Order: sequence, then C-alpha cells, then structure tokens
Amino acid sequence: MEPDARARLFEMMLGFTVTQSIGAAVRLGIPDLVSQRPRSTSKLAAAADADPDAVHRLLRTLASLGIFTEEGGSIHHTSMSELLCSTAPASLASHSLIFSGVHYRTWGGGLETFQTGEAAFPRVYGAPFFDWLAEHPTEGSSFNAAMAAGATVRGARLLDRDWSGVSSVVDIGGGTGTALIRLLTKTSGLVGTVFDLPQVRQEALAAIEAAGLTDRCSFIAGDFFTEVPSGADVFTLSNILHDWDDESASRILRTLRPAMTPLSKLLLLERVVEPGNQPDEAKLLDLHMLMVLGGKERSESEWRDLLSRGGFDVTHIEAGLIEARPV
Ligand SMILES: C[S@@+](CC[C@H](N)C(=O)[O-])C[C@H]1O[C@@H](n2cnc3c(N)ncnc32)[C@H](O)[C@@H]1O
Repeated sequence: MEPDARARLFEMMLGFTVTQSIGAAVRLGIPDLVSQRPRSTSKLAAAADADPDAVHRLLRTLASLGIFTEEGGSIHHTSMSELLCSTAPASLASHSLIFSGVHYRTWGGGLETFQTGEAAFPRVYGAPFFDWLAEHPTEGSSFNAAMAAGATVRGARLLDRDWSGVSSVVDIGGGTGTALIRLLTKTSGLVGTVFDLPQVRQEALAAIEAAGLTDRCSFIAGDFFTEVPSGADVFTLSNILHDWDDESASRILRTLRPAMTPLSKLLLLERVVEPGNQPDEAKLLDLHMLMVLGGKERSESEWRDLLSRGGFDVTHIEAGLIEARPV
C-alpha cells in the first residue's frame, strides 16, 4: 500500500463535505459579502445571519482548500472564491447551488443507477430532469444561470472561428442565448436563432433584448426530438448530446439532419473523453450525466460512431469542439 493511500482515499470520501461547504457559503451570501469588503468571520456571520463559530470553522476549512484566505483577522477573496460571487464572469455560484441541492439528492440514488444503468433523477424526483425543471422555476433559473455562466467559457471556441461567408446560425438547445449573443455581438451581419424549450423563452428574450440584438437574434421554442429550425449555414449544439444516451442523441441528430442544407456545418461544443487512467473532469461528468439524464461523455471513437449513425461525417475533432458535415 502506498504510504499515503489511506489518507488520500479518506480525503476523497469526504468530498461530500466540500460540495456542501461551498454550497452553504454561497447560500449564506458570503462570497458577495466579502466582495463588498473583507471582514472578520464574526462580522460575516452577523451579516449572513448565521452562527459565528460555525461560519469561522466553515471559512477556515474553505481557506485550507484555497477558497478564501484569512489575513490579519479578515477574510479576503482568492481566485477560486471570486468565482463564487453571483456577478463574477463565468461564476460557479449557480453550479454550486445545483450540485449541493438538487443533484446532491439525485446522487443519493446512485447505487441503483450502477445496478440498472438507468438515470437516478426520474426515480428520485418522479419526473425526467427537464420536465421537473419546467415545474420548479427557482431551480430552473439556477440551472439556466449555471449553463449561461458555463457557456461564456464553452462559447469562446465559437468566437475564435472565421465567420466570413456565414450568414445564419441556429444554436440548438441554446439555453438563454449566452454563447450566441456573444458571437453575434462580435460578428456584425450574422443572424442567429436560439432554439430551446418554452420554459427558457422568457429569460432568453430578456438576454437578447439586454444585448440590443432583437433585430438579429430570435428565440424559437420547440422540442429537438421533433423538429428544429431549418436552413441555417451553421448549427451549434453546446453541451446537448452529452445529456442523452446514444439512442436519444441519434434521434436528435436525425431530426437535425433534414433541417440542414448540403453545405450546412454542425459544430458540437462537447468534451472528448481521453483513454487511460489520467484524471479527467470528463470522466466525473460522464457519471453525472448518467445519474441525471442517462447521458454520457464520449470518447473520440464514440463521437465518430454516433455522428456517422446520425448521417454526419466528422471533419475535425479536439477537446471541446467537434465539427461535422452532413453526408
Ligand atoms: C446542458 S444545457 C446546455 C445549454 C447551452 N447550450 C450551454 O451550452 O450552456 C441543455 C439545454 O437543452 C435544452 N433542452 C432540453 N431538452 C430539450 C428539448 N427536448 N428540445 C429543445 N431543447 C431542450 C435545455 O432547456 C437546456 O437549455
């Protein structure tokens, strides 16, 4: 046995305490309070209406992990704690609410998922994830905000591309429009459509209006298992196919395929699971997709197989970006 194997394993098993400590700090509003001004743990506890000793111990633990730092009796931000502020660019505050809340309970049903291969979420909550979100607007907004924050990172891949000769883009499952809005803001003359479920419409329209893009960006509500807007030059799907098992992902591709012209391009913003034993965020998220939606993160060969069965040829593949064309 490696000398520190037991200690490392034990620390990993305490991962749930980290998830919940971060979630509690966010729910108490501590990151935003520290942004207002650094102060002592007792003053932070008073401002958060929380127990001073418990908050002191919470922040001592988080600081030991690099989330906040204590200096001269005051709590200050670190680069990680700043990401827990509600207004931080690419904030992880909403992710923290979801992971420590809705999905904490989802994972309570984890064993049965490994026994049956079926998602835990519908068993635990009594409805598929996106149906449940439609009935729970508070959690729905947190989810949309988490996706919007993540889309600022994912969507950067779109900004780097050459868009000359492209006049229209449809972002399938585009959420509240973050990635498309950034692209259209940067690329004059490009017209875009966000396609997503009706429950996302209001927040997406507000974001499009706030960006001053109502003349070049529209929102269409619908179901990508049934029909999607047709004829665009480029179709983007960001973090969509990883939500679904192979059969459902193929159905989405088969709905999409006839909506494309022979010259349309498909851009997937998705992870590519690396082979081997290396630590990889995609391997943990693969399990999370299984728990929540029965979905999966895919290796390069799995992406090639899936796209080929859906009627597409992969023209480029790298971590975070897969390009394909209809065949
Ligand atoms: C994981 S989020 C990704 C959002 C966004 N593309 C991004 O990268 O942040 C999945 C999106 O798919 C949408 N969605 C789920 N089922 C859908 C369906 N049947 N038809 C259209 N959109 C759907 C959800 O509302 C959500 O916005």
